[in-house]
Amino acid sequence: MSHILVTGGTGYIGSHTCLQMLLSGFEISIIDSYVNSSTKVLDSLIKLGKEYNKDFLEKINFFKGDIRDELLLDSIFKKSRINSKPISSVIHFAGFKAVGESFNYPLKYWQNNLNGSISLFKVMNQNNCRNIIFSSSATVYCQTNSFPVSEEGIVAASNPYGQTKLAIEKLLRDLTNSDERWRIIALRYFNPVGAHPSGTIGEDPVGIPNNLFPIICQVASGRIDRLKVFGKNWPTKDGTCLRDYIHVMDLAEAHKASIELLFDNTQDNFLVLNIGNGIGISVLEAINKFQEINKCNISYSFVERRNGDLPIIIADNKKALSLLNWKPNRDLNQMCSDAWNWQKKNPNGY
Ligand code: NAD
Ligand code: WQD
Repeated sequence: MSHILVTGGTGYIGSHTCLQMLLSGFEISIIDSYVNSSTKVLDSLIKLGKEYNKDFLEKINFFKGDIRDELLLDSIFKKSRINSKPISSVIHFAGFKAVGESFNYPLKYWQNNLNGSISLFKVMNQNNCRNIIFSSSATVYCQTNSFPVSEEGIVAASNPYGQTKLAIEKLLRDLTNSDERWRIIALRYFNPVGAHPSGTIGEDPVGIPNNLFPIICQVASGRIDRLKVFGKNWPTKDGTCLRDYIHVMDLAEAHKASIELLFDNTQDNFLVLNIGNGIGISVLEAINKFQEINKCNISYSFVERRNGDLPIIIADNKKALSLLNWKPNRDLNQMCSDAWNWQKKNPNGY
């Protein structure tokens, strides 16, 4: 098992992936600036380890810092050793992710996401570490695609956040073209939801959430009055938008499988994989299932369509299913119960 650097490892997807990597026997160094995460996440991971009878303290090195700090990054690559092992690969989560905010603050997004990635790849190269899993997003697919969309679908992001993801994917492709020692997998996540079933780690949005599941959870807990459903006359089965929700633990497992694939030399050295369930769930279906599984009431009303929404976004996940030793195992019931379990146990987040 090897030693992996996880950027953004205390964030939502990062924390669940760190847990999965640790449980699978990997050692991890984490760099996170805490710009969008809690300082309590590490303690929660250590606590969870104990529940699995594992001492994660011996397996984690944590560095508080920004990935744009190349001196810090360089010293991490040069000095961070766990059980004498140097860092062999990177899982790169660190970045900003709010689509709406990216329209208002494009510089903030380009600076953090693109400059951070450039610094990271530069320092990796200097330190002869050229194995990386990158967090990309379904937002890179443009509206003219038909869904389910495969990795060959047309990419042209409609928002600055998505543009940064596409730019980073292009840069990664250029790196593999320039030096075949790079081994890269870009994972395009669809809609990650849910939490670890213990409720010890989960999604902890700062301020008023933008995404459907955190909003549903906060309506259920009484923090938000009601859910505004964006549109009721979309060309779908019940008039509300269809999305491909994927449990965050399934997503975490996809990272572990991707790291394993990186070391399989028969694979292309640049791969793009859709990570979704391949199933479209409507907003009304999500609300109804959440109410049924968690025996609670979600007040909602219909409002105008949200700018930029598409009626249907679903992954064609065949490539991931065939190349990774992975498949999603958790259904909508599990997503709803785990999301609510986390919210109930942590009504104010960490
Ligand atoms: P998150 O905000 O919870 O996690 C990102 C982490 O990166 C945070 O802990 C933050 O503090 C850290 N960070 C940000 N900029 C940094 C920097 N310059 N240096 C060091 N640390 C920094 O987000 P998430 O939901 O866990 O998403 C992780 C990745 O997956 C992001 O790149 C995001 O764009 C991508 N993604 C997320 C979703 C989603 O819906 N959550 C979907 C597709 C892709
Ligand atoms: C889901 C559905 C809304 C809120 C976003 C990003 C994407 C990726 C995943 C990062 C849609 C509806 C929502 C509400 C609603 N993230 N909705 N009322 O927009 O599919 O994807 O997260 O890469 O890039 O765009 O997710 O959770 O915001 O919306 O009716 O208050 O719920 O219209 O159909 P989205 P979401």
